Amino acid sequence: MKLNRMVKSRERFSNPEMVISGRIFYGNKLVSGSIAIANERIIRIGKNLKGDLNLDFGDRIILPGFTDMHVHFREPGMEHKENFETGSRAGLRGGITTYFDMPNTKPPADSFRRIKEKIEIAGKRSYSDFGIYGLVSETTEPENISNADACKIFMGASTASEEFGDYRNLRETLRKFQDKVIAVHPEHKDFIRKTASRTLMEHYLARKDAEIEAVKLMVNYKDLKFHLCHISVPECLDLLAEPGRITFETTPHHLLLNLKSGSGARYKVNPPLRTEEEQGKIYRAFLDGKVKILASDHAPHLLEEKENFETAPSGMPGIETMIPLLILLAKRGEIPIERVVKTGATAPAALFSLKKGEIKEGYYADLTVWDPTDIREIKDKEVWSKCGWSPFSGWSAVFPSHVYLRGSLMVEDYEFVGGRVGRHVGGLQEGKAKI
Ligand code: DOR
Ligand code: ZN
Repeated sequence: MKLNRMVKSRERFSNPEMVISGRIFYGNKLVSGSIAIANERIIRIGKNLKGDLNLDFGDRIILPGFTDMHVHFREPGMEHKENFETGSRAGLRGGITTYFDMPNTKPPADSFRRIKEKIEIAGKRSYSDFGIYGLVSETTEPENISNADACKIFMGASTASEEFGDYRNLRETLRKFQDKVIAVHPEHKDFIRKTASRTLMEHYLARKDAEIEAVKLMVNYKDLKFHLCHISVPECLDLLAEPGRITFETTPHHLLLNLKSGSGARYKVNPPLRTEEEQGKIYRAFLDGKVKILASDHAPHLLEEKENFETAPSGMPGIETMIPLLILLAKRGEIPIERVVKTGATAPAALFSLKKGEIKEGYYADLTVWDPTDIREIKDKEVWSKCGWSPFSGWSAVFPSHVYLRGSLMVEDYEFVGGRVGRHVGGLQEGKAKI
């Protein structure tokens, strides 16, 4: 009797709702195989598996869904630039199935009530899974933002964000929030020169030392854990060479663009784009595996705000093109595909204890399907983000043809077909973070 029941439950388990086949990223390489899915998860990986629904993608590549741990979706307060609907959809176009939204909204996400409201809004509107950052200032206590999935400290002011007050209180503040991922915007406020920024070069010079000095200060806090956002200066990589305790990200624009990429206000961003030489060093560090996390810092502003360099807000969109640009570079043999998967999917998901970012039994069935022969040009008018433009307009990329979020089809043949199935990561986290 007991045995019978066991066999029955095994039978049920072995009858997947769906099997997807193709060239799957498994064991750090691409192998022909099948992924069986049931109840939102990958239940088996093998050859010739069969389920209720069987989809064979042939030569196409199947990668895990990607996690973008740094986006600004502007809701509440600036929904004319982006909102949870448009931002999450734009992410799905680029293979991002999970994102973490920054707190510099209007009002900022700096209290339990405001974070709760934000989680509720995103819960209703997001098409993909989401986490919410809480803003930490000198006066924030852990109970104020206990419902946030991570916290953010702005050392220097950027778009719609207040700088941290007295740096003498920084260490104590970091200590209070050690049970969360603490992301820090590392631009030292005393080194951001308040001179006119009329050109890309002037903007660059005004903030050149700010990042190095901020990182120098932060690495002194040897007993504390934190994450540094958008590292863009090569000298900082040396300061951060000690592995483990401090995590950091770089962005697609600091990886692929530089001061020569364009001169207009579209390219104004904090931290600024760097010289060609500096960018080359960041790119090589990424290739060498020294950069563990890629995050878009998706910061949509409208084109009409991005006309006059001096008055334009800083920031550029990036969530929908980040992975597609890198997949093309991987196809061309310039970057190992493994680097794209590890930095864009595996490492950020692990940092937040999500069973995502790997094609592995027991993990959520967030899957992206890519046809590397289908190379498309990025065009402003085809951008899914509400802001309607991309700093990579005119560049070529490979977008995912199909995207699955926990087994649900969200993108089919490059078209959005998804429902509002996005879920708060609070209900998805398991185990201890490891990276
Ligand atoms: O350029 C930036 N834009 N840097 C930031 O830190 C914030 C962001 C934004 O929210 O627009
Ligand atoms: Zn940001």
